[in-house]
Amino acid sequence: MLNVSKIREDFPILKRLINGKPLVYLDNAATTQKPQAVIDALVDYYSNHNANIHRGIHTLAEEATAMYEKARERVAKFIGAKGAQEIIFVRNATEAINLVAYSWGRAFLKKGDEIILSESEHHSNLIPWQLVAKEKGVNLRFIPINAEGYLDLKEYKRLLSTKTKLVSIVHISNVLGTINPVAKIGKMAHEVGALFLIDGAQSVPRMPIKVEDLECDFLAVSAHKMLGPTGIGFLYGKKHLLEEMPPFMGGGDMIREVYLDHSLWNGLPYKFEAGTPNIADTIGLGAAVDYLEKLGMENIFKHEKMLTEYALSRLSELSYPSTPLGAGLRIYGPKTTENKTGVISFSIKGIHPHDVAQILDKEGIAIRSGFHCAMPLHQKLKIPATCRASFYIYNTKDEIDKLMEGILKAKKIFKI
Ligand SMILES: Cc1ncc(COP(=O)(O)O)c(C=O)c1O
Repeated sequence: MLNVSKIREDFPILKRLINGKPLVYLDNAATTQKPQAVIDALVDYYSNHNANIHRGIHTLAEEATAMYEKARERVAKFIGAKGAQEIIFVRNATEAINLVAYSWGRAFLKKGDEIILSESEHHSNLIPWQLVAKEKGVNLRFIPINAEGYLDLKEYKRLLSTKTKLVSIVHISNVLGTINPVAKIGKMAHEVGALFLIDGAQSVPRMPIKVEDLECDFLAVSAHKMLGPTGIGFLYGKKHLLEEMPPFMGGGDMIREVYLDHSLWNGLPYKFEAGTPNIADTIGLGAAVDYLEKLGMENIFKHEKMLTEYALSRLSELSYPSTPLGAGLRIYGPKTTENKTGVISFSIKGIHPHDVAQILDKEGIAIRSGFHCAMPLHQKLKIPATCRASFYIYNTKDEIDKLMEGILKAKKIFKI
């Protein structure tokens, strides 16, 4: 298991007081805090190695290029890609999905084709497909979620056909914490000849991922949710697919030869990395991957399951319809950790989620309130907003007890 008190020492921000109280940071699904190793990597790059990459032959340019490409190799190894060419650096998971929608979607989709998504997608795995569907005359189909927060796989099977060209699904829901059976979903997609994209924004930070075991053709990830800096993420894509796809953006570095009337594209992965990339933050991502690997992704997975289980049991003390501590708290999605981790969304009857979040903030506790960029899922749940607590490697059971105390305080203030 993780040595959490030692880990906490690595995160300067955890020493902060918020409203005079020690920070209890439970908004990790939005973004995680950064260890000193990642902050140091950024400072070291700018202090000692800053130069543009792939162009200069001077020492700094060569150092910066080597550091940037080393980060790509670390990421490739981390997710079990066959090679660094399969890793495209982008700004975030959103851009990774847009890259596939605009490059692959525009080149290969035809009128009448179908894309299957689910009702529980983050907007970033919905809007790009809405845009490309409108442009190309493609139909979007949705796997429903059932009352327990699981995807209805019988309905998925019914939706699949030879018209299906892509299935794009979130691995761990950022609202319900549900771990979707992506390997099975991918296998079923491949059986009808469709490609399979996994939105790994919440899963890659939380569990060991090997792309081959997951039957995925594309995987979209944001660094900032796995200890890395904001403004950097990556798309994994199978090499033969990325080779067939046209560039997403044009400019420097993505070309091999340029003439006034046409150009020849660079090879992978540079064909998709137009212009000067986010060098420093990519190096920061490399440092984050090192940090996570030292802890061990299996240990991280176990730690978060343990915290999620504890939080589910504590929160259920307040559960709807009636419990000794009083009625009113409703947990959305699975109630056990069999297929859930890291994220718990809930509501309290009679108190708006923003009020809960505000009262908790007074106690130094950071949670998220709102629809968490998943409006259709909240429409399905028939609720405009929820409170969301999400955990990571530095969180403790003691912090979940503080969350409980804060919720009881909110109930007291609202006389519920
Ligand atoms: C499941 C899921 N997918 C995609 C995203 C988009 O991530 P980003 O905003 O970093 O692109 C998020 C962010 O909250 C997410 O939770």
